[in-house]
Amino acid sequence: MMTPLWIVGALVLLFASLTSARLPDGRLHANMPPMLTIPQATSPEGPVTSRNGTTIPPYNTTYYFNQLIDHNNPSLGTFVQRYWHTWEFYEPGGPVILFTPGEVNADGYDGYLTNGTINGRIAQQQNGATIVLEHRFYGYSNPYNNLSVASLQVHTIQQAIDDLVYFAYNVDLPMPGGNHVTPAEAPWILIGGSYSGALTSFTVVNQPDVFRAAYASSAVVESIVDYWGYFEPIREYMPQNCSNDVQAVIAYIDETFISGTTEEIDAIKTLFNMNLTHLDDFAGALRNNLWDWQSLQPDSGPDMQFFQFCDALEVKDGVSAPIEGWGLDYALNAWGTYWADTYYYLICGDYSAEECLGSYDPTQSYYTDISINNAARSWEWIVCNYMGFLQDGAPLDQPTIVTRLIQPIYDEASEESRQS
Ligand SMILES: *[C@@H]1O[C@H](CO)[C@@H](O)[C@H](O)[C@H]1NC(C)=O
Ligand SMILES: *[C@@H]1O[C@H](CO)[C@@H](O)[C@H](O)[C@H]1NC(C)=O
Ligand SMILES: *[C@@H]1O[C@H](CO)[C@@H](O)[C@H](O)[C@H]1NC(C)=O
Ligand SMILES: *[C@@H]1O[C@H](CO)[C@@H](O)[C@H](O)[C@H]1NC(C)=O
Ligand SMILES: *[C@@H]1O[C@H](CO)[C@@H](O)[C@H](O)[C@H]1NC(C)=O
Ligand SMILES: *[C@@H]1O[C@H](CO)[C@@H](O)[C@H](O)[C@H]1NC(C)=O
Repeated sequence: MMTPLWIVGALVLLFASLTSARLPDGRLHANMPPMLTIPQATSPEGPVTSRNGTTIPPYNTTYYFNQLIDHNNPSLGTFVQRYWHTWEFYEPGGPVILFTPGEVNADGYDGYLTNGTINGRIAQQQNGATIVLEHRFYGYSNPYNNLSVASLQVHTIQQAIDDLVYFAYNVDLPMPGGNHVTPAEAPWILIGGSYSGALTSFTVVNQPDVFRAAYASSAVVESIVDYWGYFEPIREYMPQNCSNDVQAVIAYIDETFISGTTEEIDAIKTLFNMNLTHLDDFAGALRNNLWDWQSLQPDSGPDMQFFQFCDALEVKDGVSAPIEGWGLDYALNAWGTYWADTYYYLICGDYSAEECLGSYDPTQSYYTDISINNAARSWEWIVCNYMGFLQDGAPLDQPTIVTRLIQPIYDEASEESRQS
């Protein structure tokens, strides 16, 4: 029986590798969604034995490939792209299985070389070699030594597709015969999940003759800019008393922020003990309690942050609210108290509300930090230019658990500040 204990969780939020991370969960800013990358998988340590008994390098050995900076202009030269590789199961004639973890530093993903993952299982069954390739602009695979707007001009999905193709045709794999396994000489299989699953799909459509087969897991191939629907399964499947109360609180906050008096607005700020200048920053911040839903695991149990939030709103003196909830007054006070006493610190630590949740100051490091190995910045570039998925309030004719003060223009404005 396979017990891949070394696979670190399913759907983990991967933050450990962000060097410029500063908020407790590693985000640079808490009014943007947490990143959801595919799970890390580390591998067993030590030397590996190939099919014919040869001792070969450990899975975590890092290799380097000279990748083109700009596939439209090869004269710009190359940068170093990191990869990991094993020929544990390889026999001449077998396939080469290529995988990128996508929008993340690829350290700690070498488990995707092994038979603890489907990649390695395919290799084991088909006598293949496996590769984990770090995506350009993540980790230490960078065309330039910073993430400035000038540098990010070559951070496009087309360049990422072309990287996969150029790698396949030009890599000299560190294994016997590794210089004779191009797609013209051996079958290549491309695998990805989530964004890298989308990239896998985009690649086989855009470059149909390179990979013999491809496997796109949870591939998010459709870009949706105004993605209020992100919150719909949460609204529908969360405890319904909690859903109803959250809707009531959000409706009240929106109404007050749009047409309430200064006193009414300040009363809400006081209740949450959070004095943000911009009301859309304030209302948008409350999305954090709902984003916690995406870290739910099948076996996560009742102590998950999301359920603690609902318990805070719905359990009064040990009694749960009926399906309609306790109503606005109780829920508003309960949410404010929970936010002020418990939750704010979890997302913002010791940072001020403006530093943690304010989006209007273009001098914030969130906008100005262009150091490499900052997956959040590199990913937001792709979100803004290609993927969308801005997670905002529902249209007026729909129930909403998220403020309607947040519309795509809000998240786009944050992006534009970073890009100017
Ligand atoms: C590989 O793992 C071993 C054992 O944990 C460690 O000593 C070594 O530094 C690692 N090598 C790389 C290149 O990360
Ligand atoms: C996976 O590969 C290891 C060697 O790396 C081997 O010992 C193990 O039996 C394989 N697991 C399965 C389920 O085949
Ligand atoms: C950032 O990289 C670009 C190349 O894209 C370079 O021209 C520029 O000088 C670098 N900026 C900093 C601040 O290092
Ligand atoms: C194992 O296989 C590789 C590739 O076919 C070959 O280069 C190597 O010499 C073999 N080693 C042994 C000990 O047979
Ligand atoms: C919030 O801060 C502003 C300016 O810093 C101040 O004028 C206002 O009174 C504060 N409001 C509350 C409710 O603390
Ligand atoms: C009400 O909320 C409590 C606490 O979160 C939850 O356990 C319960 O299932 C909810 N009941 C209904 C009917 O939604």
